[in-house]
Amino acid sequence: MSFDTIPHITSKLPDVGTTIFTVMSALANEHDAINLSQGFPNFNIDERLKDLVKKALDDEQVQYAPMPGRLDLREQLAAKMFVQHGVALNPDTEITIAAGATQAIYSAIAAVVKAGDEVIMFDPAYDCYDPSVRLHGGVPVHLNLTFPDYRINWEEVNERITPKTRMIMVNNPHNPAGTVWTIDDIKALEELCIKYPELIVLSDEVYEHIQYEGEHQSVLKSEILRPRSFVTYSFGKTFHVTGWKVGYTVAPSFLTTELRKMHQFNVFCVNNTIQAALAEYLSTGSEWMQVAPFYKEKRDLFLGAMKNSRFKALNCEGTYFSLFDYSAISDEADVDFAKRMTIEYKVASIPVSVFYKDNTDNKVVRFCFAKEDETLTKAIMKLCKI
Ligand SMILES: Cc1ncc(COP(=O)(O)O)c(C=O)c1O
Repeated sequence: MSFDTIPHITSKLPDVGTTIFTVMSALANEHDAINLSQGFPNFNIDERLKDLVKKALDDEQVQYAPMPGRLDLREQLAAKMFVQHGVALNPDTEITIAAGATQAIYSAIAAVVKAGDEVIMFDPAYDCYDPSVRLHGGVPVHLNLTFPDYRINWEEVNERITPKTRMIMVNNPHNPAGTVWTIDDIKALEELCIKYPELIVLSDEVYEHIQYEGEHQSVLKSEILRPRSFVTYSFGKTFHVTGWKVGYTVAPSFLTTELRKMHQFNVFCVNNTIQAALAEYLSTGSEWMQVAPFYKEKRDLFLGAMKNSRFKALNCEGTYFSLFDYSAISDEADVDFAKRMTIEYKVASIPVSVFYKDNTDNKVVRFCFAKEDETLTKAIMKLCKI
């Protein structure tokens, strides 16, 4: 018998390669550029949260947490949601702690999407949506947001619903567009769900606390949407701890039951030490509620100074990303422009075409302004010379 061959596998995601986030960060490192590409903050976290992690370690909170998450943390989250949205959630049956929103989204899709089911999503879209659907035999139906205001064309959504449509995935506040929903978006989605009662909603609300004007229009506030929605959140965005990868899913109990069946076999449970620290952090003090004013200052600094550049700012109503139209500077494809800007001008960004299934190139790049003011000021000086 010969052992000189290796098994042959057929990729389940043959079209997926190294993501642009890895490419741009590597390019930024190689050329010593300021990295405004990937969405992570470069400032310190709250000392009190750090101390609570140390305390959780000292208290030996280091063994497996319960499968759905620590009850003390789920209770704190139910209390937070009650204050925020006036909804009474059952922490036992409606909240599940996840290994970041990415795993929360994956498990929600795994729980309900079956072979041949269609899932509507809106481009530009966060990169994990489409592959997570395809891995479960689902068929992603990509609809483009309007340009340049990046809103959902609800009439088009209505036209694209078929008997196979199982789920609609929405994201508010929106990455990369920086747009937020109005009450009219909620109403439009409600109308669709009344017309097509088998629709399940997956609402990605990881930037819920980073909205600059008006109140966050969570689907949880709607009596029509809440009973049919998975809603996903991430502590990474709110507490500047993206590397912890801890988040949670809110869903009615019949959806949570199915979600947890997936969750228990793809992660079982999530970092107990961190959950213990988060539970205590949420129960004592509310510094973290100040995250929107904190980012608003950064947004105003960045967008204000960029008025002196040849870039044209698009909407930035939420998140710590802002989109800029560079068509007055170059007609290069956005990927080429972003790479050249990193190499020649030493500022890395993300070309927005990568968030589209059809690679729509509107000559727009995304900058992340979750950075120290000093970093932003240096980047602005470079960008204003282009
Ligand atoms: C829109 C959106 N959804 C989900 C995630 C994933 O969050 P997490 O890091 O908690 O997995 C991100 C992270 O960038 C995001 O921007």
